[in-house]
Amino acid sequence: MRSHYCGELNESLIGQEIQLAGWVNRRRDHGGVIFIDLRDRDGLAQLVFDPDHAESFAIAEQVRSEYVLNINGVVRARPEGTINKDLPTGGVEVLINDVDVLNRAETPPFMIDDDNMGEDIRLRYRYMDLRRPIMQQRMQLRAAVTRHIRSYLDDNGFLDIETPMLTRATPEGARDYLVPSRTHAGEFFALPQSPQLFKQLLMVSGMDRYYQVVRCFRDEDLRADRQPEFTQLDVETSFLNETQIMELMERMVRELFNDVLDTQLPERFPTISYDEAMLRYGSDRPDLRVELELVDVADLMSEVDFKVFSGPANDPHGRVAALCVPDGNSLSRKEIDEYTKFVAIYGARGLAYIKVNDVDAGREGMQSPIVKFLPDETISGILERTGAKSGDLIFFGADKAKIVNEALGALRVKLGEDRGLMSDEWKPVWVVDFPMFDWDEKSESWTSIHHPFTAPNTDQLEFLESEPHKVYSRAYDMVLNGSEIGGGSIRIHNPDTQQQVLKVLGIDEEEAQDKFGFLLDALKYGCPPHGGMAFGLDRLVMLMAGASSIRDVMAFPKTQSANCLLTGAPDQVSDRQLRELNIRLRKMQKAESE
Ligand code: AMO
Ligand code: AMP
Repeated sequence: MRSHYCGELNESLIGQEIQLAGWVNRRRDHGGVIFIDLRDRDGLAQLVFDPDHAESFAIAEQVRSEYVLNINGVVRARPEGTINKDLPTGGVEVLINDVDVLNRAETPPFMIDDDNMGEDIRLRYRYMDLRRPIMQQRMQLRAAVTRHIRSYLDDNGFLDIETPMLTRATPEGARDYLVPSRTHAGEFFALPQSPQLFKQLLMVSGMDRYYQVVRCFRDEDLRADRQPEFTQLDVETSFLNETQIMELMERMVRELFNDVLDTQLPERFPTISYDEAMLRYGSDRPDLRVELELVDVADLMSEVDFKVFSGPANDPHGRVAALCVPDGNSLSRKEIDEYTKFVAIYGARGLAYIKVNDVDAGREGMQSPIVKFLPDETISGILERTGAKSGDLIFFGADKAKIVNEALGALRVKLGEDRGLMSDEWKPVWVVDFPMFDWDEKSESWTSIHHPFTAPNTDQLEFLESEPHKVYSRAYDMVLNGSEIGGGSIRIHNPDTQQQVLKVLGIDEEEAQDKFGFLLDALKYGCPPHGGMAFGLDRLVMLMAGASSIRDVMAFPKTQSANCLLTGAPDQVSDRQLRELNIRLRKMQKAESE
């Protein structure tokens, strides 16, 4: 049906007879001549219907948006003055000989070239939304990314191996999606949150280097960069240490950007420890496009007569930090109030500030509701440490360290965006030396910062049971422009250490045997030292595409409330199906009878 894609037409084809197949983007009647922009996945071509070809002209008169056409015509140069420089095919048009309507279309719910539709309607008619050139480009980019990654890993000796979707729960920190078993009444499979345990088992099996582009399922609160089902590029290797694995993965990403986006990433990605990232950026996924940094000032505040500051300054879990905004003096009262509301999202109870009018005038040069509480040496200490200049503004956060970090960490990026302080370079960074555990106030127990199979630093093993907070892990995250695009670690390959770590997490031997017995057993049968990493493919493609949500780089994503507007999933099932699965619904009023 087709000799060319629409987007392929150019001056070199002038005079040639061609065939195209595609969708009617727009039809325009121009007194006697009909123009149709025909669209396919490659671009747009202008078709010209001349009344001299009476048959095709009559058909063109009936044609409407989104009809599917097959045409035969001759490429010709567009007349002087009608050349469209914005269109790659804008120098030529096709004079139609024959046209065939392959299918008709009802009036579309939106025009395909309208980029301002609400997301709900786009998701409801996703097959139409995907016709939009930008979505076509994103899907093509995504395919190019996986194609590149696969060929890199194939070339480096990795085997593409599939792992089960119907499996047992793998703890990655989210809730599981469960699937009832019909043949085992009352029992459930879990969909994998990641193939973590299977890929470790593949290392025990001697596969040496594994990868998979794999769907993962997590029932968690959704955001712009989180979906209930998403795709990982999952990797595992044997006999490599963290430096070697990071080198291999970094080279893959660098070559990917080079080949697919024609962009040079730095020759070596910088590395920052978790502790330093929290201290300087208040985040374990720092956005290095913004240069602003948090500065600790607790020691200057421990004696001040202002509880808001002195309280956290004297609390071992507290933090008092400053964030100096260059030229921030121009911020209005209203803008400062807006930022105060912004940090409140993260639990901050206020956002104290000092406007530095004249840095050399000491107290007199400061404008601030709190400066009256601060002695002279505190003021000069703050100015010195933040490096503030006349015209700057200094924000303060004082609270539990977690709140200050989240609030000022987010504020730093927001200020970067709002005030043009964000560089337009790509800023990758490795975050390393994570603590093994985090204390969860709610459950009063230790939780894993990565996952329970991540190896602790060997020289801190002695503290594992006595002082878990002192133990750091052999984990690493790859962060790009403030987004965690991947994470991994060296794994525990010693069954005793694995048992010990599970114990710290409050999982006793019996429960461990019950949940992970198959892994603990495997570790006993000659498990090689191993480690790996998983990338969030959707996030990576989102960044590469310049999209603002991972939904925009997935063909059929779910909404923020985890349903599919296109198919209507999830949905009720029949009583018969429930009975077969031995399931009776609790307190569910059946609204409709079947
Ligand atoms: P982790 O849980 O860090 O590690 O996941 C790896 C990467 O997957 C992406 N990601 C998500 N993307 C979209 N929606 C989600 N809900 C979502 N959750 C995570 C992130 C993240 O960096 N088994 C380990 C990896 C390993 O240790 O090898 C794991 O799954 O980009
Ligand atoms: P208040 O004493 O509540 O009137 O607060 C005085 C100033 O301190 C105001 O600018 C508040 O926004 C700010 N503030 C209050 N609590 C905090 C806090 N936890 N961290 C930072 N600033 C705060």
